[in-house]
Amino acid sequence: MTNEPDWEELSYFYYDKPVEFVEDIIGQEPTDQQAKLLNSVLENRATSAKAGHGVGKTAGEAWVVLWFMFTRAMCRIPCTAPTGHQLNDILWPEIKKWYNQSKLKEHELFLWTKTRFAFNDEEYKDMWFATPRSSNKPDNMQGFHADEVLYIVDEASGVDQEVMEVIEGALTNDGARLLMCGNPTQISGMFYDSHKKDRDFFNCLTFSCEDSPLVSQEYIDRIYDRYGYHSNVARVRVRGQFPTQEPDTIIPITLPEKAAMTEIDPEGRVVHIGVDVARYGDDETVFYSRRGGKNLDYEIKQQTSTTDTSGFAAALAKKYNSQYQVKIKVDVTGVGGGVVDELKAKSLNNTIIIPVGFGEKAAENDKYANKVTEMYFLAKEYLKENPNQIPNDEELIAQLSSRKYSIDSKDRFRIESKDDFKKRTGQSPDRADGFVLSYYEAKRKTAGTW
Ligand SMILES: Nc1ncnc2c1ncn2[C@@H]1O[C@H](COP(=O)(O)OP(=O)(O)OP(=O)(O)O)[C@@H](O)[C@H]1O
Ligand SMILES: [Mg+2]
Repeated sequence: MTNEPDWEELSYFYYDKPVEFVEDIIGQEPTDQQAKLLNSVLENRATSAKAGHGVGKTAGEAWVVLWFMFTRAMCRIPCTAPTGHQLNDILWPEIKKWYNQSKLKEHELFLWTKTRFAFNDEEYKDMWFATPRSSNKPDNMQGFHADEVLYIVDEASGVDQEVMEVIEGALTNDGARLLMCGNPTQISGMFYDSHKKDRDFFNCLTFSCEDSPLVSQEYIDRIYDRYGYHSNVARVRVRGQFPTQEPDTIIPITLPEKAAMTEIDPEGRVVHIGVDVARYGDDETVFYSRRGGKNLDYEIKQQTSTTDTSGFAAALAKKYNSQYQVKIKVDVTGVGGGVVDELKAKSLNNTIIIPVGFGEKAAENDKYANKVTEMYFLAKEYLKENPNQIPNDEELIAQLSSRKYSIDSKDRFRIESKDDFKKRTGQSPDRADGFVLSYYEAKRKTAGTW
């Protein structure tokens, strides 16, 4: 190529100028927060950035990979994230996206594949590369020896402690560096510790959506209006702060957040389907199915008729009833009674239809004021005791973790009423209701017998 730049000279020039590299070579203006992130990797051995949603963490990580690859010959960059989806569908393609629009791509300086981003040269490609490594085995993070090794961890709250320990161990090698980013969803583990007891070892950064031009004010206002400035949803998803103990909420946010960052296989012989039927025009009808803790289907519909709702629930049952027993649990508090009748009339094979009246007596009547209270507490117990994989849906997580309870005159737990929840948040907790319905076992008397 005739007009090929002098790459060697450029790589020396940008060696200690990551921000300029992003501006000139990738052609994107980093936000102030992203500039801090880039400079932190230059200046520190270990960087831990906790941040709100959508402030440009993953893009920042991708830029760090490109800058490091360009300026550090023979470097190795293992990249990981808690789930295959987060790693292979989000973080890894982000590197390709920015590479493709950079000046490096014009000259095919590197080569991106699904398993490797390497220097485009037969002789060096096995010594100079970044690679996605799943975090299901600690071994995956082992064996990266080179003068310059950079570990990248996206959504670090969700990555297994054992994997984190391998990375921590590797940091004792000269030339090894670490960049971890994520929503601070958990209050234990290395990501948490990096901002607390181990903070002398890390350069700790906190990026709030409030200070990011990439996040709309509308998003921030919506979360604040619905759940409150001091809610855990606002702390974790907006301001990038660790959650606190909220004494009067039933399900701590750490549980659904953890389950949203977990991948498991389905288990057991029963498919449970929860159907929460909309009561008013702007409410949602929610279908949530699971086998073991693994979510299978998650459908949200507006303005459905009873016939559509029962038809859809029947279609879900038919998807599974040749192989598994199916239990459909329908909220019959409002218009759900019609859905139950229609479902029963369909005489579905291998399928039990269970009407659940939210206001009815709980199985453990001396402990819970009504069935809906019991359902939320049982769902919490299941989330706590078993591995679960749930959709990473902000509304679902927010609704689950903001339902409150009080103690009634008979010393029983009583959930905040749907109407009170609606007054407080401006929405009906339909998604959470569909979810907990799927976890409810109608005849269950004692804990732990699912
Ligand atoms: N400096 C920038 N200028 C313009 N757009 C940007 C910039 N940085 C990132 N983006 C875009 O903003 C969006 C959010 O960025 P990104 O996905 O990196 O954020 P995130 O903090 O990782 O989000 P999440 O919380 O969903 O993981 C993406 O579409 C990304 O391409
Ligand atoms: Mg991200």
